[in-house]
Amino acid sequence: MTPKEQKYELMLKEAAALLDGEDDLIANMANLAALIHETMGFWWTGFYIVRKGTDGTGQLVLGPFQGPIACTRIALGRGVCGTSWQRRETIVVPDVEKFPGHIACSSESRSEIVVPVFSENKVTAVLDIDSRYLNTFDDTDARYLERIVTLLA
Ligand code: SME
Repeated sequence: MTPKEQKYELMLKEAAALLDGEDDLIANMANLAALIHETMGFWWTGFYIVRKGTDGTGQLVLGPFQGPIACTRIALGRGVCGTSWQRRETIVVPDVEKFPGHIACSSESRSEIVVPVFSENKVTAVLDIDSRYLNTFDDTDARYLERIVTLLA
């Protein structure tokens, strides 16, 4: 097991313990964002939640996060977050400047991963993580973060 996998294994156990006995989604998202952010030392870690807009269509709206202030609303198919929501899959972006349509909430962000959160087979939110360095995220991050967000279901 690599040092990164060991870190994630431990974090997975901590996350399960942290969420055990609490079913409030916002509280659990807030603690998960803090746990991931502090453990891994990322630049921005947070959730965007699928909400109905005034026009009846869904939008991603900023939820609990750690890090600098961020964009509040993202449409389906826009940016990395809206694309992950639309495709219903994790997206790893090694270099944000090479992702067409990337939304730059922070000019410091260099690489990114977005993981969809499912409930009853629907995407209900996405976990978005930004790094100040290129190529921060790989399959290991994707695999473990996908497991961590299942704790929210
Ligand atoms: N970069 C994201 C927007 C959210 S911020 O990174 C916090 C995107 O392209 O969807």
